[in-house]
Amino acid sequence: MSDFENKVHEALANPRNQGEIADADAVGTVGSPECGDMLRMWLKFTEKDGKRVIDRASFQAFGCQTAIAVASMATELLKGKTAEEAKQLSAQELAGDLGTLPPMKIHCGQLVEGALRNALDASAATTPSDDAAPTLAADMHRMTGGRVRIVPLE
Ligand code: FES
Repeated sequence: MSDFENKVHEALANPRNQGEIADADAVGTVGSPECGDMLRMWLKFTEKDGKRVIDRASFQAFGCQTAIAVASMATELLKGKTAEEAKQLSAQELAGDLGTLPPMKIHCGQLVEGALRNALDASAATTPSDDAAPTLAADMHRMTGGRVRIVPLE
């Protein structure tokens, strides 16, 4: 097993920040048409030293193990970052200690990056209403609702 695969398995043994943040300020959802995987990210902001920073981030995934491992890393990395700082992070940076994403797994990281950007865009636009963040499981059962955004892949 490669070093990358070992780290993915370590992350999966204890995934961080899984599940909905009930009082989230923003939620972003993306799907990959290639593999059919989906990922949703919730963000909760707080005021710190006069800046609006991410207090908590969480995710829910119907996806491969790499996407789950990257999302687990990313939701830890995002704590304390402003929306602007978070927006600068690439899929590779969000993978953190997992190391370099293998070419076949880059889109898994992009799924996480896409969900984050989607949530940041939503947070910049408006505060979501109470019913704007159903669980991903609920969305999976009503996929025709058009709520799921697709990440275009190269
Ligand atoms: Fe699709 Fe990893 S294989 S997100």
